[in-house]
Amino acid sequence: MASVTVRAPAKVNLQLAVGPLGRDGYHDLATIFCAVALYDEVTAAPAHALTVETYDATKGAAMEEVPTDATNLAVRAALALADWAGIEPHVDLTIRKRIPVAGGMAGGSANAAAALIACDALWGTECPRGELAEIAATLGADVPFALLGGVAMGLGRGEHLTPVLVRGEFHWVFAIANEGLSTPAVYAECDRLRAAGRVPLPTPRRSADQGVLAALSGGDPRALGAALSNDLQDATLSLRPELTATLDGGLAQGALGAIICGSGPTVGFLVTDSAAGLDLAVALTAMGLCRDVRRASGPVAGARIVLDVPR
Ligand code: C5P
Repeated sequence: MASVTVRAPAKVNLQLAVGPLGRDGYHDLATIFCAVALYDEVTAAPAHALTVETYDATKGAAMEEVPTDATNLAVRAALALADWAGIEPHVDLTIRKRIPVAGGMAGGSANAAAALIACDALWGTECPRGELAEIAATLGADVPFALLGGVAMGLGRGEHLTPVLVRGEFHWVFAIANEGLSTPAVYAECDRLRAAGRVPLPTPRRSADQGVLAALSGGDPRALGAALSNDLQDATLSLRPELTATLDGGLAQGALGAIICGSGPTVGFLVTDSAAGLDLAVALTAMGLCRDVRRASGPVAGARIVLDVPR
């Protein structure tokens, strides 16, 4: 192969039930992920070392805020796969980002999933799907879902996945904030608010929200909008109070539901169809409450090869 390009989707959590903090530093989750058509792309090309470059795909410019060292999840993915295969991790990785950085939509996880698929194809390592998913889970809680895509229930850290039945597609508008948020900081704020009695302690919930499941299988966006839930939302709003105006603003413009995406700060609005999405995107832009507005439908497939160029 001369190069392999893989794209991987962003996610939104339709339900994010956060249990207590475990001894491993992770919270026990019951979540429903939905992959949406907002993609990052990773190209893997032959090299004599491991290098990585990151570009903002919407601006065509280099991206300074994404690390190029071993803390970059795509780099960690390449290292983990090479280790599994017992080969040198030699590859040029080029990442083109559209998913907001530190936005709660699992952009870094999408890059890791894409890098796993791209390096596996470039190196011809033929890692079986199940083992790829196991490697993915060592890289981050959301990486296995970025491989799988669609809609899935996630338990544990979010890595134990079960696909969920969905009819039709759902349309979203995403309001992207000026500055990202650190996921560990939001989980820590959630723990702090719980310890201070400012938000309810979690009730043990090890199952999917029946309202979300019924809305998905019935293809009913109105019911889905009403059923969206995120236990991290209070913590995100505590760190970024200004997002309340964004949530309220979109609902006042007719969104069927509004939710903080994962740990935030991106706000997701569910709308009836793509025309309503365009109207809402225009209204949100005019309100000037966010840096950028993107429209995307879902569910879509997980990380997939879009281009492989033979040598
Ligand atoms: O697995 P990942 O690196 O994406 O997780 C980032 C951070 O988010 C973890 O270090 C932890 O602080 C928090 N987290 C958590 N419980 C989860 C998933 C993530 O506390 N189930």
